[in-house]
Amino acid sequence: MLIKTIHSWEIPESRATCEQVFLNRRRFLAAAGFAGIGIASGVRPGFASDDPTAALYPAKVNPAYADAGRKITPEAINTTYNNFYEFGTSKRISKAAEALVIRPWEIAFEGEIETPFKLQFDDLIKKVQLEDRVYRHRCVEAWSMTVPWSGFTVKQLVQLAKPNSNAKFVKFETFNNPEMAPGQKPSLFGSSYPWPYSESVTMAEANNDLAFMATGAYGKPLAKSMGAPIRLHLPWKYGFKSAKSINRITFTSERPKSFWEVLGPNEYGFWANVNPEISHPRWSQATERDLETGKKIPTVIYNGYGEQVASLYDGLKDELGAALFK
Ligand code: MTE
Repeated sequence: MLIKTIHSWEIPESRATCEQVFLNRRRFLAAAGFAGIGIASGVRPGFASDDPTAALYPAKVNPAYADAGRKITPEAINTTYNNFYEFGTSKRISKAAEALVIRPWEIAFEGEIETPFKLQFDDLIKKVQLEDRVYRHRCVEAWSMTVPWSGFTVKQLVQLAKPNSNAKFVKFETFNNPEMAPGQKPSLFGSSYPWPYSESVTMAEANNDLAFMATGAYGKPLAKSMGAPIRLHLPWKYGFKSAKSINRITFTSERPKSFWEVLGPNEYGFWANVNPEISHPRWSQATERDLETGKKIPTVIYNGYGEQVASLYDGLKDELGAALFK
């Protein structure tokens, strides 16, 4: 399925993207063409100024997360350099993502919970404690930025859902609407991504204080390109875990298979955590490129959050070995 004539570390980082997992070169070019949307638009995509939650931002800064030890990445970079495959495989999808309709936005809570229910996003946000946190954000593609998020802990979401004792995992899913998001249309060449985008975590990961549902950034509701109106952010994991524009949350007893795991189980595993010592099969993870300065900086295990999360994996190390960090 893969045609790899050169190693990824021999190609520019801009081409070392996830889509190479399953698109051969021809399909890749075709996909880039059909998704050729919004290349270098230069237009700052935003949030709707009439967003009904706008007055909630900025939220109160949580002093424990006021400083991520790195300079905050300018908003204009964060809103225009994105991975959001629903709108195309290029990083420049911000204009295309303006097609995302974020109201009404209903979220379904399903699976191993007391009673399945649906909640409008605007009602959900009234039931939780919003706060501001600055987190480091490290993509598996070896770039990184530092983001001032607003949102609430995944732990609060779990409490709201009332999982039963069978619940072992939480699955987060994005919308599936090819009319709105052209990247979800089946490819002309018959290949297709396993939409909707989904990622899952263990209950222990979900209940870790770092696990965050982001609803805003830079003191306002989330920009569409960043995954409005609600996305996950797990700062100790590679960015692919942080599903955007979530509209279904399912508690399961079995471990679900996620989007990238289906496409490339050896490259984007369920257990993946940021680790400079375990190379991606096609490139090193020892350093990362800061998106603002372009400088390479050393990558730190668990993206520097080991004190809070390393114990989550203690009992699993022997069983899973490197799979924990692929
Ligand atoms: N969520 C959805 N629905 N679709 C995506 O393509 N890409 C993931 C993650 N969440 C993705 C997604 C990847 S690979 C990364 S690195 C981050 O979103 C990028 O988030 P950012 O664009 O806000 O930096």
